[in-house]
Amino acid sequence: MPAPLSVIVLAAGKGTRMRSDLPKVLHAVCGRPLLRWILHAVAELHPDHVVAVLGHGREQVEVELTKWNALAQRGSAAAFSGLPAVSSVVQEPQLGTAHAVRQAEPALPRGAGRVLVLYGDTPMLTAETLRALLDAQPAEGCSFLTCEMLDPTGMGRVLRDAHGAFRGVIEHKDATPEQRAVQEINAGVYVFDAPRLWECLAAVRAENAQKEYYLTDVLGLFLARGYPIRPVLCAGGEREVQGVNSLRELAIAREELQERILTRHLANGVRITAPETAYIDADVEIGRGTVIHPCVVIQHDVKVGENCSVGPFAHLRPGTTLAEGVDVGNFVEVNRTQMAAGSKAKHLTYLGDAIIGEKANIGAGTVTANYDGKSKFTTRIGARAFIGSGAILVAPATVGDGAKLGAQAALVHKEIPAGEVWVGVPARPLAARGARPSGAAPADAGTDGRHA
Ligand code: UD1
Ligand code: CA
Repeated sequence: MPAPLSVIVLAAGKGTRMRSDLPKVLHAVCGRPLLRWILHAVAELHPDHVVAVLGHGREQVEVELTKWNALAQRGSAAAFSGLPAVSSVVQEPQLGTAHAVRQAEPALPRGAGRVLVLYGDTPMLTAETLRALLDAQPAEGCSFLTCEMLDPTGMGRVLRDAHGAFRGVIEHKDATPEQRAVQEINAGVYVFDAPRLWECLAAVRAENAQKEYYLTDVLGLFLARGYPIRPVLCAGGEREVQGVNSLRELAIAREELQERILTRHLANGVRITAPETAYIDADVEIGRGTVIHPCVVIQHDVKVGENCSVGPFAHLRPGTTLAEGVDVGNFVEVNRTQMAAGSKAKHLTYLGDAIIGEKANIGAGTVTANYDGKSKFTTRIGARAFIGSGAILVAPATVGDGAKLGAQAALVHKEIPAGEVWVGVPARPLAARGARPSGAAPADAGTDGRHA
């Protein structure tokens, strides 16, 4: 049995360089807030306890944690199984990284164990790297992640002696020019023996250029007290440990994370014909045999079945499910909508809050008007129903199985019974307008001046 694992996520900082009122860790990349990326990586370690240290914008971050904990509780849903609950503590004021970790101590169990410390703003850090760091932790000691950086400006530098043995971490602002020339940096990810961490934290003083309590001083104290320390070079390189401090860095992180998402789908047998144009969030499932044509946006919490065709230029929004063999074509937006197997919406269409039956055909230019300015309503379109081009369905509205709605019709808050044909504005049964009822013999031509 490995010692119990606690995780502390530092997320109290202000994120000034984001130039945004939104707390930094709530900025989303590929459909997930930064904080959630790191929590997903942490989840793969199956930790016993996870605590987030909050400060700036903590009310908003707490709302996000409440959502996370709701997902964690729903653990039975396959996609979210094994997510740990996350508690939070407040660090006010923010007096440095060591001070932040100290705030978490009362929220964690006493006694033997391991404590993993990381930041809420490093979305590219992988569970694989964290596992390597856990494995490298010496008994009753500490391991921490390092990385060679082309431009290490601003980072803590890893100091080593002539034999390469670890001698400490010096912050950029406290470093001499010689120390600043060092390119190996402290990534800010640590695994500590718990009792020794708490013991050393209590001894950290804010005697430095920034008058802050540095967590890196705990490494110095481990060294001074003869507790083992192991620096671990990040196998994923500079990219992986990169924190997000600005919107530009957020955009760079997006590129990397998008590539990882696309690589996973391609490996699963999803044909993405032009990956450089694909915009697919995390938390999207796509079945094998499906083709994603160029310039498609698929947001989080979307499921696409096997052998579907999506795009070019399609937008699938959260809460949408496409069953097997669904075809969503050019300039089609599908929002909180279920499309059953074999249904098609191939051109210029908006489907919002809709439930579409098997093999239904949605004609070009169809719009479901799901919103009256206050509330959203559902449109139901039955199996094998046929919606003519340019139809508008003002919800709540229903088209029964096998029913037809004529081109340019407006179905306003009505239900078309199964098999009937309705046309016009507002739509009415075709038979009632003097035309041929479905299945009957042809009526005399031109009774109402129209051609049926
Ligand atoms: C810290 C390390 C530095 C390392 C760098 C890697 C210290 C003293 N220095 O730099 O060696 O190279 O990370 O990125 O630890 N935070 C709090 N409360 C605080 C201060 C920070 O929660 O009082 C959080 C921030 O929200 C952020 C993280 O800790 O997520 C790191 O803070 P930041 O100020 O970016 O790091 P530095 O201290 O500059
Ligand atoms: Ca930082």
